Amino acid sequence: MMMLLNLGGRWAAAARGPRRNRSRIYDVEGYDGGTWVGTEHRYPKPERLGDKRGPSSGGRVRVCLLPLSRKLVTMPAPVVDSAYRKNIEKLRRDLRAFIAEKNCAPLMVRLGWHDAGTYDAATRTGGANGSIRSEREFVHGANNGLKKAIDWCEEFKAKYPNLTYADIYQLGGVVGVEVTGGPTIEFIPGRKDSVACTPEGRLPDATKGHQHLRDIFHRMGLSDQDIVALSGAHTLGRAHKERSGFDGPWTSEPLKFDNSYFVELIKGGSEGLLMLATDKALMEDPKFRTYVEAYAKDEELFFHDYAISHKKLSELGCTAELYGSGSKSAQVDASTSTILAQAGVGVVVTAIVVVASYMYDMKRKVALK
Ligand code: HEM
Repeated sequence: MMMLLNLGGRWAAAARGPRRNRSRIYDVEGYDGGTWVGTEHRYPKPERLGDKRGPSSGGRVRVCLLPLSRKLVTMPAPVVDSAYRKNIEKLRRDLRAFIAEKNCAPLMVRLGWHDAGTYDAATRTGGANGSIRSEREFVHGANNGLKKAIDWCEEFKAKYPNLTYADIYQLGGVVGVEVTGGPTIEFIPGRKDSVACTPEGRLPDATKGHQHLRDIFHRMGLSDQDIVALSGAHTLGRAHKERSGFDGPWTSEPLKFDNSYFVELIKGGSEGLLMLATDKALMEDPKFRTYVEAYAKDEELFFHDYAISHKKLSELGCTAELYGSGSKSAQVDASTSTILAQAGVGVVVTAIVVVASYMYDMKRKVALK
C-alpha cells in the first residue's frame, strides 16, 4: 500500500509492508492511465533521518501508486496524456529543424506573441488559444505578415493532429527563441483551441508611448518588468514596410537572440537600425529604464527574466483546469496559495506517516523477539 501526498508538484509516497518501510519523494513527470511516471528520490530509513547524507536520487521509475485515502490525493491528472506529450517532443524536434532551415525564428516568435497578446484578464477573453488562425483575427492590421507562419503551422497540425493549434503556435515561439541562442523557456502543453476572436486593437500600437504600453500589457495581467523583458524579443527580426509600415532591424544581428536590443537603446540607436516610439518609451520612463539598464549590462539577467516573462505570455488565458493545480501558470492565481497550503499539510502528514511507519517497524521487532 502506498500513501500519496501532494507537495506542490511533488508527491511523497510512504510504502508500508515488510522490507518496504520508507518514505519516498517522486518528481512526477506524467500520468499514464493509472500509472504515474517520475523520478524517485529515496530517503533514508526513519532511524537515519537525523544523519546528513540526505536523499539519493533514483532513476526514472514507473510506479503504480495506490492511495490509502482518496481525500489526500488532491492533484488532478494532467489533461494531456503520454501520446500527446510524445508528439510535443517530436514537434519540438521538427520545429528546431524547420526554423533553422528557414531562418524564420522571428516570425514564429511574433506568431506566438500575437496569438497570446490579445488576452484581457478582466473578461478572461483572448489569449494563447490558437484563434489567430481564424480569418476574422489574422486580418487585423497588427497581424500583417503572420498568415505565412499560420500556413507553415498547418503542416505540423496535419502531421500531429492531436496537438492543438494553441500549443503548436506557442511551442514555435519557444523554439524560435531557443534556436537563435536565447534562453530555454519552460513549456507546459495542454492549451485549448478556440475560434472566438477578440476585437481589433488589443495588440500594442508602435507609434504610442509608455502609458499605452502599460494599458495594453497590464490588461493582460503582465507587469512593467514583463513589458521590458518581452520587448527584448526585438533583438530578433525586423520590421517590413509592406507589413507594418516600418522598416529595418533593431539590432545588427537579427537572427541572434542576445541583449543587444537593450545595448542599442542605451546607445540611443545606430545608423540603419530601427527604434519605434514604444522602444523609445522604455528609455523615457524611469521605471522601464531601470530594467533596460540592467539588461544592457547583464545578459544573463535578461535571459533569466525573459524566460519567465515569455512563459507567462505563452500561458495567457490558460486556466487552472488546463494545467492541473501543480502548475505555476501565470493565470492560476489561486495556485500559489493552494500549493503552499498543500505543501504545509503534506509536510505534517508525511511526518506522521514516517513516525507511524517507524512505530510499526518497532512493534514488529518487539513481536518477533
Ligand atoms: C511592446 C510592444 C510591441 C510593439 C509596439 C511591437 C511592434 C512590432 C512591429 C511594428 C513589428 C514589425 C512587424 C513587421 O513589419 O514585420 C514587430 C516585429 C516583431 N516583434 Fe514586436 N512589438 C511589440 C512587442 C513584442 C513582443 C512582446 C514580442 C515577443 C515576445 C515581439 C516580437 C517581435 C518579433 C520577433 C518581430 C520580428 C518579426 C519579423 O522579423 O518578421 N514584439 N513588432
